[in-house]
Amino acid sequence: MTTDGPRTRLPAAVDPTVLLTAADLRRSLELDVREGLTAPPRWLPPKYFYDDRGSRLFDRITRLPEYYPTRTEHSILVASAAEIARLSGAEVLLELGSGSSEKTRILLDALAAGSLTGYVPVDVSAGALREAIAGLAHDYPDLPVYGVVADFDLHLHRLPAPGRRLVALLGGTLGNYPPAQRGVFLQRLAASMHVGETLLLGLDLVKDPARLVAAYDDADGVTAEFNRNVLSVLNRELGADFDPLRFAHVALWDVEREWIEMRLRADSPMTVRVPALGLDLSLGAGEEIRTEISAKFRPEVAEGELEDAGLHPEGWWTDPAGDFALVLARR
Ligand code: SAH
Ligand code: TRP
Repeated sequence: MTTDGPRTRLPAAVDPTVLLTAADLRRSLELDVREGLTAPPRWLPPKYFYDDRGSRLFDRITRLPEYYPTRTEHSILVASAAEIARLSGAEVLLELGSGSSEKTRILLDALAAGSLTGYVPVDVSAGALREAIAGLAHDYPDLPVYGVVADFDLHLHRLPAPGRRLVALLGGTLGNYPPAQRGVFLQRLAASMHVGETLLLGLDLVKDPARLVAAYDDADGVTAEFNRNVLSVLNRELGADFDPLRFAHVALWDVEREWIEMRLRADSPMTVRVPALGLDLSLGAGEEIRTEISAKFRPEVAEGELEDAGLHPEGWWTDPAGDFALVLARR
């Protein structure tokens, strides 16, 4: 099945549409890994964390006592979904990086009281998407769910718009872009939206660094496991011979840039082969690979960035402690 552009009717589908094939993902993995692992300092892009194992580990992260963002965003949604739904006037909920679509259910329930005609979950992780769609088909038998396996860095313009959309980007995922790329992404996102459509953005806010670091370095080591999993992805996909257990998980707060930075630190000198790329890498003891940033926001700054992209904030909701925020912005 293919998407045939904007303003078509939604076919209810069990199988997601695939805009990003396994071969596409593999090709971009090769390009990104060659660029990232040969750069000083070395880095890896975040979208490769989420193979089936990675998606499951992320799910466990969302339930950790230290990882406050998911449950806080959940509580904000419970308190505000009705108002968000009413302001959006949406017929379709399109969610970028939908993952398990768990929190989304609150929005779907609220939108169903209005004119909701369908849900479009979009994720780079085909496995997580299929699982989410199956769960929704069971619990929301009358809701057309039209999943799309896609990369929101590449496919925003090809996502379906079968009615006035509320576009959701939850979980603080926007913060995983470095600031310059974040601006480009917001511009592109705005350009892919019709005038009058809305964006619901989940943003983790600047707070006590100790709590921030704990959220990305939990006592049970689930986040460490998640971080190291990206090396297993490279082993499987590119035939690399990383020994994940020889890398320490590092999470630190960058005070200046106000982001959490995740790294993998080699415990001793090592040579790593990446046969699919014809690469032999020498890593020194203590050498680090940057795997993820998670920027934390200040409300005024976030509003300015949205305005710069032509997305006008109309509503702002936080929890009583001010840990996390949802902002609704209209194109
Ligand atoms: N929205 C969920 C999941 C957040 S984790 C929540 O709030 O809990 C980030 C999700 O975005 C993962 O499911 C991951 O597979 C997906 N993702 C990451 N980069 C992506 C990209 N470039 N295109 C599409 N999905 C992406
Ligand atoms: N978007 C999530 C965040 O920034 C993703 C995330 C949570 C994450 N924990 C992680 C990514 C650990 C990499 C490593 O909060």
